[in-house]
Amino acid sequence: SQTWLVVPAAGQGRRMGADKPKQYLRLADQPILLHTLARLHDAFPDARLVLCLDDDDHWFAPQWVPFNDWQRVPGGCERMDSVLNALHAIEAQDDDIVLVHDVARPCITACDLHALYQAVATHPGGALLAMPVADTMKRADAQGLSARTEPRDGLWHALTPQGFRYALLRRALETARHQNTLVTDEASAVEALGERPQLVSGRRDNLKVTHPDDLALAAAIMTAQIDHTPA
Ligand code: CTP
Ligand code: MG
Repeated sequence: SQTWLVVPAAGQGRRMGADKPKQYLRLADQPILLHTLARLHDAFPDARLVLCLDDDDHWFAPQWVPFNDWQRVPGGCERMDSVLNALHAIEAQDDDIVLVHDVARPCITACDLHALYQAVATHPGGALLAMPVADTMKRADAQGLSARTEPRDGLWHALTPQGFRYALLRRALETARHQNTLVTDEASAVEALGERPQLVSGRRDNLKVTHPDDLALAAAIMTAQIDHTPA
């Protein structure tokens, strides 16, 4: 069966505060979007790519897409609307695997991508890359005073990619939209249906470029990853 890669890339990057959306900022001389697509292509050269892009996007260049088989779909108001546009645009089989990956995570590795894919293939509720919380977690009151310490046990950071069978993911996101619940990742929509996505412990350097100082961090991560690739 077919594997689909959905890459939401229709965000404005407001927290970055740059003169263009963050996916077009340069990292090691290439736009972030190009890094992300290249790494997805290295891991899944035969997958079909669906790229969610804003209609007003005048920075995107199709020559940055390494996939033979790809299509562009319009972004929506929220990330979940962009992903739903992608799911509605494709003719997928119910049990096709769909991986959703933020364009803003260019440090994703082939190793994590393959581990995630294996988990998606074997778990009916799908799977997501995640990272156990390392810091002590505080619950603040409205004044910003620490009210208590939350037990850290069993707490994870949700990363991407997140992957599911097409029919489940589509039903989950359509349900969230009908119920007007704003979900910030696919897994929360799937959990709301009573399914249990598998958490796959991923690398700690799968950073989402969000704030201006993340650019230097992402560049350092890429250098370190390349230095550690066996020759
Ligand atoms: N995204 C999208 N459509 C939207 C909003 C976000 O496709 N309507 C994408 C972004 O391009 C990004 C991913 O979803 O790849 C995660 O979103 P986020 O990190 O929040 O990016 P932005 O929304 O661009 O940044 P900000 O929230 O700071 O504006
Ligand atoms: Mg956003």
